[in-house]
Amino acid sequence: MNFKGKVAVITGAAVGIGKGCALKFARCGADLALIDLNAEKLEALKQELSACPVDVQVYTCDVADENAVNDTAAKILAHFKKVDILVNNAAIWRDFRPIMEVPTDLWRKMLNINVMSIVYMTRAFLPGMVERKYGRIINVASVAGVYGNANMVCYSATKGAVISMTKALAKEVAKDNVLVNCVSPGSVSPSENGDVDHTEPSELCFMGRTGSDMENANLICFLASDEASYISAQNIQVDGCRKKQ
Ligand SMILES: NC(=O)c1ccc[n+]([C@@H]2O[C@H](COP(=O)([O-])OP(=O)(O)OC[C@H]3O[C@@H](n4cnc5c(N)ncnc54)[C@H](O)[C@@H]3O)[C@@H](O)[C@H]2O)c1
Repeated sequence: MNFKGKVAVITGAAVGIGKGCALKFARCGADLALIDLNAEKLEALKQELSACPVDVQVYTCDVADENAVNDTAAKILAHFKKVDILVNNAAIWRDFRPIMEVPTDLWRKMLNINVMSIVYMTRAFLPGMVERKYGRIINVASVAGVYGNANMVCYSATKGAVISMTKALAKEVAKDNVLVNCVSPGSVSPSENGDVDHTEPSELCFMGRTGSDMENANLICFLASDEASYISAQNIQVDGCRKKQ
């Protein structure tokens, strides 16, 4: 895959799957605008990417804040002049409890970060993609949005919304050569040292192990590439042959 001359925006880029995407896109020649709340980890990633001959800019921004997203998008467009690829990856998910124990505030917070951020980011960059008749939007959802996970009702609802938003938007903009797809990871274990190839044993899928950040990034980059020019409105699971819950 060759992304030379392409500009990719990645949210939640500082760690995990977002970091895997940043490494993969950079190795394939894309210029990068990396967004996260965590300024320190963003800077560390920028240093790690300095070996790649691409333009990497980092932006500390809360993607659930519409004004902050619009300010950041303006800075990105002022610097790069265009955005070809948008990876909506930022989300929160580490909360496991029955529905009766989930406070309304957490529902609002999760809906804002996991769903509304994608609305804000998409509205910021879609007009330029439509105008230039080129765009790739990849939303990161989850198997929880497909099957529904017990003790993750709220999270599952947000990811179900992401999958249906993806399919609906894809139909609105297909004629403009803006392709919109979803990638749904199964279980991805975080590694202590930020190793994007890290996996662990897991009983949740027939392969018997978790997926790595890079295994998810590989599909995200493929969907963003010119090789994927006839694929849109899809949700593809990266789940090691999940045992459906
Ligand atoms: N890890 C998994 O097992 C798994 C499984 C299924 C789906 N996913 C999805 O994959 C995506 C990435 O998950 P992960 O586990 O690799 O990452 P993570 O949860 O470890 O990190 C997410 C990153 O997003 C950033 N972030 C969170 N809220 C933000 C906000 N409001 N504004 C800006 N940045 C924000 C965090 O600072 C962090 O760097 C998420 O959408 C998640 O729901 C993950």
